[in-house]
Amino acid sequence: MSNRAFRTHMSNAIGRGMVGESVTVSGWIHRWRDHGGLIFLDIRDGEGVVQVVCDPATNEAVHRSAQGLRAEFVVRASGVVRERPEANPNIPTGEIEIDVRELTVFNECPPLPFQIDDSAPARDDLRLEYRFLDLRRPVMRRVMVLRHAVSQAIRTALNSRKFLEIETPILMKSTPEGARDFLVPSRVHPGSFYALPQSPQLYKQMLMISGMERYYQLARCFRDEDLRADRQPEFTQLDLEMSFVEQDDVFQVIEGTMAETLRETRGIELETPFLRLSYDESMARFGVDKPDLRFGLELAEISDIAAQCGFGVFKGAVEAGGIVKAIRLPHGAERSRREIENLEKIARVYGAKGLAWLKLTPDGASGGISKFLEAGEVSTIAERTEAVTGDALLFVADRPSVVNAALGNLRNHIAQEQGLVRRDQYKFAWITDFPLFEQDEETGNWSAAHHMFTMPYEEHLEHLESDPGRVKAQLYDLVLNGWELGSGSIRVHRADIQRRIMGVVGMSEEEAQRRFGFLLKALDYGAPPHGGIALGLDRVVTLFSEDEVPMRDVIPFAKTTSMTSLMDESPSPVDQEQLDELGLRVVEVPAPEPD
Ligand code: AMO
Ligand code: AMP
Repeated sequence: MSNRAFRTHMSNAIGRGMVGESVTVSGWIHRWRDHGGLIFLDIRDGEGVVQVVCDPATNEAVHRSAQGLRAEFVVRASGVVRERPEANPNIPTGEIEIDVRELTVFNECPPLPFQIDDSAPARDDLRLEYRFLDLRRPVMRRVMVLRHAVSQAIRTALNSRKFLEIETPILMKSTPEGARDFLVPSRVHPGSFYALPQSPQLYKQMLMISGMERYYQLARCFRDEDLRADRQPEFTQLDLEMSFVEQDDVFQVIEGTMAETLRETRGIELETPFLRLSYDESMARFGVDKPDLRFGLELAEISDIAAQCGFGVFKGAVEAGGIVKAIRLPHGAERSRREIENLEKIARVYGAKGLAWLKLTPDGASGGISKFLEAGEVSTIAERTEAVTGDALLFVADRPSVVNAALGNLRNHIAQEQGLVRRDQYKFAWITDFPLFEQDEETGNWSAAHHMFTMPYEEHLEHLESDPGRVKAQLYDLVLNGWELGSGSIRVHRADIQRRIMGVVGMSEEEAQRRFGFLLKALDYGAPPHGGIALGLDRVVTLFSEDEVPMRDVIPFAKTTSMTSLMDESPSPVDQEQLDELGLRVVEVPAPEPD
């Protein structure tokens, strides 16, 4: 309950049924207007907006004082609810207004850097500098409310499944998740550093060894990596871990949790179980490991046809060990050469050397590379890509990684452009059976594709050292509408296997011991089989939001792409005294190249 000295009601609670009652509201002046001697104030509070009228006939003094008010002043208004001559159907309080008898100003506000309004968004840098104002906008408030609701629904879902919410340290030993660590110097141990967690990975494994069996946490994670639209240096994971489970058990928990959360927050029913695709199948059909399944336009391999066709580029690519794939461009036969060339530019961003094409017209294939293909070949390709007359076909020939990246991303682009993507559709899928290791194309070194605590399939263990590229792991991603929402795995619970994996990624016994000795030790003391997953909470909220906001806007105090906070100006230099105490000296360093 609110303090009645400030308010008797929140704005949205005042309706037609209260006409004639005295009420008090407090909040910010959303809008100020002078209309023919009446001053109208829209007062905004945490739940909505209500119109307040300062009528000189009701109270001369109030009307006079209202003349000096401006947007975002903080006020209290007491008066009598009355029906509006003309209702505003767009807001819940649109049928009434408050005829003010008493007005108090709690605080003033200088001219605003931007309007508190959803219709005309301000420049991003201004919004971040004045984030306290930006968060007053209704859309930002809705997103914060959604974020809260998502967190609570997740907690309810996991609590009902007997998970324990347990906090893990923020000051810790470095746990690599592939990014750089943020380091925190120790005053008590000069020259030594804590790392901020990139994830609670090792701690949650420790909790399984401790017998906690089912753990979760909405964990803040820190990664010093190049930012993109779906990455922040500081973000939140729904992190969970379970003992005595297989992959399917983790899937069931997440499917239930996501279904309950979407139902609770949006009233949308999800179909479970989610679709499952192996990594290989996802790459083959969609070219990426986070496919958007809201539309078709699947990639079709045509290397067999390409190998014997008359087009030198295709033949050459296959002879060099590459592949050729095609996708359909719906209604592409109507596209100009120029439009197709624009698509080629996108393919080139992902490394393609070109984008071959042809059009399917009522008179057969035409344009582009049509002259190099026989009618039978064209119709086979059309069948594989599900193309019809009126479409065009687009081709890339190269190494598999380039072909997939180029056409996979082009597929997303075409779907967006052609309006095939529906925002209110939620197509979840599990991508499974990822390779355990990735090889650096230049150095030939192996590294863990996800992280090195992931369990290989039992039957692949024998190839661990001899053929790392062949080893598939009990490793899975949760994808939604073209985003990677989460990643997890069944973990290595035996120290001997853990040591072997560390060996494959080039870690010496000594280094393994120095960095992960505590894990290896714990694994020796009766570690149960266990596995888990972490979902990016910021990504979940972004995708669950009805408002089309970027991920940065679901984070109340977000950072810029250059990792600064424009509001508090961090990071910033510190006093010499603080440095001395920590035994630190700042030397001139050139600004680093972006990753
Ligand atoms: P991973 O590194 O894949 O796995 O992270 C899990 C999920 O966290 C989200 N995420 C991010 N969100 C916003 N900004 C970032 N910079 C960012 N980085 C990651 C993504 C991602 O899918 N310990 C493992 C999980 C496990 O194995 O259980 C881990 O952290 O949605
Ligand atoms: P060119 O013979 O180089 O003039 O190329 C003819 C067509 O093939 C152009 O549309 C190029 O964009 C396209 N092309 C060239 N290299 C490739 C490639 N590796 N994959 C797909 N198309 C290509």
